[in-house]
Amino acid sequence: MKNILIIDDDIAVRTSLSLLLKRASYQVSDASNPKDAISSVRRNTFNLIIMDMNYSRATTGEEGLTLLKDIKSYAPQTPVILMTAWASIQLAVEGMKLGASDFISKPWNNDQLLRNVKTALQLVDNDQKDLQGVSRSNLDKKYDFEKIIGESPQMLRILSTIGRVSQTDASVMILGESGTGKELIAEAIHMNSQRSNQSFIKVNLGGIPSTLFESEMFGYKRGAFTDAKSDRMGRFEMAHNGTIFLDEIGDLPLNNQVKLLRVLQEGSFEKLGSTITQSVDVRLISATNHNIKALVESGQFREDLFYRINLITIQLPPLRDRTDDIPLMVNHFIGNLKTLYKRSHLTISSSAMQWLKQLPWSGNIRELKNLIERVVVISPNDTITIADFQAHIHTMPKKTDATSLPPIGSMTLEDIEKSMILKALEFHGNNISKVANTLGLSRAALYRRLEKYNLTNETSS
Ligand SMILES: Nc1ncnc2c1ncn2[C@@H]1O[C@H](COP(=O)(O)OP(=O)(O)OP(=O)(O)O)[C@@H](O)[C@H]1O
Ligand SMILES: [Mg+2]
Repeated sequence: MKNILIIDDDIAVRTSLSLLLKRASYQVSDASNPKDAISSVRRNTFNLIIMDMNYSRATTGEEGLTLLKDIKSYAPQTPVILMTAWASIQLAVEGMKLGASDFISKPWNNDQLLRNVKTALQLVDNDQKDLQGVSRSNLDKKYDFEKIIGESPQMLRILSTIGRVSQTDASVMILGESGTGKELIAEAIHMNSQRSNQSFIKVNLGGIPSTLFESEMFGYKRGAFTDAKSDRMGRFEMAHNGTIFLDEIGDLPLNNQVKLLRVLQEGSFEKLGSTITQSVDVRLISATNHNIKALVESGQFREDLFYRINLITIQLPPLRDRTDDIPLMVNHFIGNLKTLYKRSHLTISSSAMQWLKQLPWSGNIRELKNLIERVVVISPNDTITIADFQAHIHTMPKKTDATSLPPIGSMTLEDIEKSMILKALEFHGNNISKVANTLGLSRAALYRRLEKYNLTNETSS
């Protein structure tokens, strides 16, 4: 049985927390002040410590921080969960920096607290597991990683981590450049978890206008605002009992970060226009290709939210740092295309394989996958060679970058728009439908611009 120490000067807190934990089959001890707590920690071994940050009259939290340091010196391996009021959550952040493993705000939500306790205990168990000698085939016996190709040492370490953490409710943050497989890894964590037959809800936080954040995430009641014609479920409610994947979390504006922190911290939310508080049980996975630590340092990302979402961090390496996985991936992609296009003799020359290994791959695995697909579609040969790739790379549309644009001050946006329209008119022999199509406009929108720039005489139809 797991042995938990509760440290709080408030007897009401100690009593109700003890009761809750005992009912959940934990063995519980308690202490009402730092001195008793330390002597208890020196005499016993606990699996987990839950401690308040404020003792006696002082409310600065200094005592809590000192106590945490002392606990960490006597029992460095024991996970510690901090309790603070919502208003002093910054204290919890200080504590996380000193090695606390999680934090809970008072008043707590019982279910949420039990989840945090269970997760903290599981993560220690996991830590102690031996990492030596993991192989891809061992991992595949235990977990379903079918879609994830790779057996480089970096990839094996990542797969064994996600295998282990998928069994817990710990929040996971996935970092990595664009195209490195963040979404694929997020899905794998869900698929291998106990939540796998519940929903996996993906939210692209970069794509939600800031003002719609709450209605998107929490939903609304009919009449909550003018356009709310009927009740609507938010993403958190959809993800209830399952996993919520918050993609591009680095793009979330500050005013919405605090709203997100609140629901994660309290395990509950209210729909817009409703006073009823709904409990929600979700496993959180987030991802970003920003340097999130730098965003925290520059004040663009809340530190408390950072610690909340990031019990486990997974850093995906860029493809150029694990080139040994490139042949595996290429063969895998070609294998899929063989079936798709019924070209059973499709293969790649060994020199082409070598050649692919030395490309920079700034778009990572997505870029590799796209390149293989396009070359297979275009090339009639059964064996793909370097020449096939090169021919294709040269015909790939160049991305407009800042340097290929005219110098600042030489043209306005309208000038550029007008020139582009003229160029397209010339290219398509003044065919309006084709011009509209290549410029990504409707015919009506193109006509409006033609009138605006006095170009209506140029066109036939
Ligand atoms: N290890 C892998 N094995 C096979 N395919 C992979 C692997 N990693 C990524 N892919 C494929 O590469 C593509 C890009 O992956 P994914 O969308 O997960 O990247 P991402 O990191 O989320 O990118 P972005 O930051 O642009 O959103 C997908 O088609 C995915 O299936
Ligand atoms: Mg993605």
